[in-house]
Amino acid sequence: MENFTFHSPTKIIFGKGTEHLVGAETKEHASKILLHYGGGSIKRSGLYDRVVKSLEAAEVDFVELGGVQPNPRLSLVHEGIQLCRDENVQFILAVGGGSVIDSSKAIALGVPYKGDVWDFFEGKAEPQASLPIGVVLTIPAAGSEASNSCVITKEEGWLKRGYSSQRNRPVFAIMNPELTFTLPPNQTANGAADIMAHVMERYFTNTPDVSFTDRLCEATLKTIIQHVPIALAEPANYAARAEIMWASTIAHNDLLSTGRVGDWASHWIEHELSAIYDVPHGAGLAVVFPAWMKYVYQHDLNRFAQFAVGVWNVEQDFFDPEKTILEGIRRMEEFFQSIGLPIRLDELGIPDDRLEEMAEKCKKGPDGTLGNFVKLTTKDVLNILKLAK
Ligand code: NZQ
Ligand code: ZN
Repeated sequence: MENFTFHSPTKIIFGKGTEHLVGAETKEHASKILLHYGGGSIKRSGLYDRVVKSLEAAEVDFVELGGVQPNPRLSLVHEGIQLCRDENVQFILAVGGGSVIDSSKAIALGVPYKGDVWDFFEGKAEPQASLPIGVVLTIPAAGSEASNSCVITKEEGWLKRGYSSQRNRPVFAIMNPELTFTLPPNQTANGAADIMAHVMERYFTNTPDVSFTDRLCEATLKTIIQHVPIALAEPANYAARAEIMWASTIAHNDLLSTGRVGDWASHWIEHELSAIYDVPHGAGLAVVFPAWMKYVYQHDLNRFAQFAVGVWNVEQDFFDPEKTILEGIRRMEEFFQSIGLPIRLDELGIPDDRLEEMAEKCKKGPDGTLGNFVKLTTKDVLNILKLAK
């Protein structure tokens, strides 16, 4: 296990009816805020009215900006920054999912910065200040409600890039599983794939002696595998929705990263699919992850066999570990399909005429590779995309 500092200070307020606390909670940080939301689901569900009522009761003054799209865009971030400056906003309240939260995080970084907020995403500058943000979460998926990352798409060139910083962690996240009853089945499934991907990115590590966090990862994955089919069959099953919601935060608040180095290649590869074809991030991951696994499993047969046995209940074949491993990957694909996810590029509507471009564009480190478990070159990324066909 490696040395680590774990500091994930987001205050989690979890359970039925908790959105009514948003006004009082926000008031502890500011009395003038931006209320930021997406394409209208919060208005249809009545959540918007309840949030406004709670803000008004706590005498929190607000301006609002809706219209965040899935795979949130830089142009709306710029609009939000200007609005916050014009209105002297001190705090941003994100009501929605990962896209709304990430748009809020980017606005929060951009308000006090004199240059273009995109500088942070390109590694050209580090923020010296940012506005605090709070969250009312409506979809368990991205884990952005307690994560240090923020992912934005710049329309010019269709670049989807992340920026990670402790500044990005929200000060509070209100999480009422009842708010997820209205999720359409595909969004529940997309969320499941993203949650599982966040765990698997951490699970596939070269760091030795991390059995405690291995077990936490396996438990998180099994929780999703058990409860997502229940939530799909019974959308208003509170118990299942609550298990999924809490697992989604733990999957990405860095508890599962403690003492180990994660991989993250599948995420960077997926971001190219979302950037060019605007596919949901989770659905893209359900396609990329199995292909990545098939490409790299020989790097550590023991770890992949442990994954097959510990997560997918495959009976270990001690004479033929590859058989165990491939059965684990097959069961994962079968699970994704059973909850309605695509597992191949064509099911996502992605043709194979731009695979080279995506492999080339995919974000690499200074040494020209991506991923930590196995360092992938552009050619490797292309091979993985071809395996996903
Ligand atoms: O926009 P509205 O109308 O609200 O509808 C949303 C949206 O269409 C809808 N929705 C959300 N809650 C709902 C609901 N519909 C009915 N009932 C509800 N309760 O669901 C759709 C998807 O929402 P979105 O916020 O895009 O989903 P998600 O949470 O999966 O976020 C995806 C974004 O997060 C990024 C992804 O790349 C993607 O851009 N990620 C952010 C991360 C982070 N900041 O830590 C980590 C992740 O790896 C990920 O990259
Ligand atoms: Zn993700």
